[in-house]
Amino acid sequence: MNNRYNKPIPCGWFAIEYSKDLAPKDVKPLTYFGRDLVLFRTESGEAVILDAHCPHLGAHLGHGGEVHGENIACPFHAWEFDGRGFCTKVPYAKNMPPKVVDKQAIGRYPVVEVNQMIWAWYHPEGAAPMWEVERHAELHSDEWTPMDTYDWQINSIIQETGENAVDIAHFVTVHGSPEMPDGKVTIEGYRRWTIMDSQQHAIDEQGNVDLSGENYDQGRLETYSFGPGQTFQKFSRMFDIVMMGTITPIDDQNIHMRFSFSMPKQQTSEHTLYANAFRDEIVRQVGQDIPIWENKVYLEEPTLCDGDGPIARYRKWFDQFYAA
Ligand code: FES
Ligand SMILES: [Fe+2]
Repeated sequence: MNNRYNKPIPCGWFAIEYSKDLAPKDVKPLTYFGRDLVLFRTESGEAVILDAHCPHLGAHLGHGGEVHGENIACPFHAWEFDGRGFCTKVPYAKNMPPKVVDKQAIGRYPVVEVNQMIWAWYHPEGAAPMWEVERHAELHSDEWTPMDTYDWQINSIIQETGENAVDIAHFVTVHGSPEMPDGKVTIEGYRRWTIMDSQQHAIDEQGNVDLSGENYDQGRLETYSFGPGQTFQKFSRMFDIVMMGTITPIDDQNIHMRFSFSMPKQQTSEHTLYANAFRDEIVRQVGQDIPIWENKVYLEEPTLCDGDGPIARYRKWFDQFYAA
């Protein structure tokens, strides 16, 4: 089975790379949004994302391209392009070709750097950003630990993996949760959030999750989505931990999912043990979801029952990210 999904790539802000993994003058080839891209950092420190292929004769700027000041030089004949996608130099031409004079010569993507990551705005027709990347204070604070990150490439689409959050019945069957989490979903434009108080498996002093089904704690889980590509979760029990989830389309059949955790540095070592166990549980749950996601099909008209979560509402919300 190859093409299981016939949906377009949604528009939105998508995480591209961890800021720490792109030093000034670094150049990286990437494939996201079903497109070949080049990511580089200029000498002054600005992160830039352009379509990969040079308009001269088609070389890939990410394979051998070099940063010269604020520009990237093509590896084939050294034409240079700036962060706006303008051609700034053709080293051996007496006159710049009219096709590139004073206009954009190569596709570029709006970029912001926030929450320790580099983000690109994708819209299939190049429309300007419709909202901003949400900034998370915890990920900009010296009082919280450096991000602890996990990542997966999954043969699925964002709409499907995101549906997990509102598919309350699967938590019991797939993840062994003691009860179906029940929270009120609020939807406001590109945002969606749920505040959920639920029973969680107890965690002992060594940080082991008690799966016996006899001991539970009350926990609060706040889950936010900001467009299709950014989620943020705050867990509070007797410890704190936050998680930023990012999902980036590789193409119209595959996604790159990253989970980044942070917790207060000041927490007692016991609380840190609990928080680590909770993090491990979240990561374990993704492992349980993946075989379902990679083998299921998307049903436009599922057969739902009265105990299912707000799946239809979720789908209607997600629809806004499919640009016509
Ligand atoms: S192909 Fe890029 S400069 Fe010639
Ligand atoms: Fe799940």
